[in-house]
Amino acid sequence: MNGPSPQQLAQSGSLDELYGLLGELTMGAGWAKKTPSLWPEPKKTFRAHRWSYAQAKGALDAAGRLINTELAERRNLILMNPGEGYATSRTIVAAYQMIMAGEKARSHRHTPNALRLIIDAEPGAFTIVNGEKLSMLPGDVVLTPNWCWHGHGNESKGSAYWLDVLDVPLVQLLEPMFFEPHPEEFETEIKVPNNSPMHFAWADTKRRLAEAEGRNGSGAVEIALGDPALDTMALSMLKLKAGSGTAVRKVMANNVFGVVEGEGTTTVEGETLAWARGDVIVVPSWQSHAHCSNDGAVLFRVTDEPVMQKLGFMREGQAKQ
Ligand SMILES: [Fe+2]
Repeated sequence: MNGPSPQQLAQSGSLDELYGLLGELTMGAGWAKKTPSLWPEPKKTFRAHRWSYAQAKGALDAAGRLINTELAERRNLILMNPGEGYATSRTIVAAYQMIMAGEKARSHRHTPNALRLIIDAEPGAFTIVNGEKLSMLPGDVVLTPNWCWHGHGNESKGSAYWLDVLDVPLVQLLEPMFFEPHPEEFETEIKVPNNSPMHFAWADTKRRLAEAEGRNGSGAVEIALGDPALDTMALSMLKLKAGSGTAVRKVMANNVFGVVEGEGTTTVEGETLAWARGDVIVVPSWQSHAHCSNDGAVLFRVTDEPVMQKLGFMREGQAKQ
């Protein structure tokens, strides 16, 4: 038996002596922890933040000159939370991505679920998901769920820019991370579907928002894309009428917003973040927030609510601004 004997432990003359012996056994006294393992309310280590698409676009254009898609599996810029580490929020990471005219990004698959909101692209930019070629036009949302093959291409004359959103931080935490490059490097297209559950066209979304507005009359309207679209992330489009705003909410879920159209502000726990088309705003969980827009806007929302719901952790708190 390595370390102190049961008798030595039993005869510890003081707590300090006992703690020393426990250390040798890699055990710790639960009553003397340096930091508590339970606390009354969620800690707010992640911060609300806004990232500018105009700045990201400039940086991606530089990256377009400096690195090609042969060297970079993906030419992307990760939106790192200023409060903590690599991710945008505890469970979700977002990144801007660009591919230039004539380029291809290699196909691969991974267990993290992914989706993208297209910001600027001309007809000819596409994603192939499990052999299906899906177009990428501004406002479109394309899904690549857990373990689906996917790659990107651009047959248009201009660069294509979009926002990627993935549940990588959650998968890293839970550990079921698997990744595989496509055996043929670039997956070949098998069909171009008219209607794919992996693709939400902006034209349809716009029509559905107008119908929802017709039913609702005033204020903000929100429509779901998918039910939910992915096991770990639910997606929706939120339309703010000119001069209107949303109610203040405080939820036990992380929310990442991408601006599809318009300009406005999001106030999070008293801090106001101004945004414009293409920008990204993160509202970490359990932080009171509301959006408003003077001239009207559409926000794309990605949330980990499905995870919180499935695990019984979803709560709505008393919101205050
Ligand atoms: Fe991927």
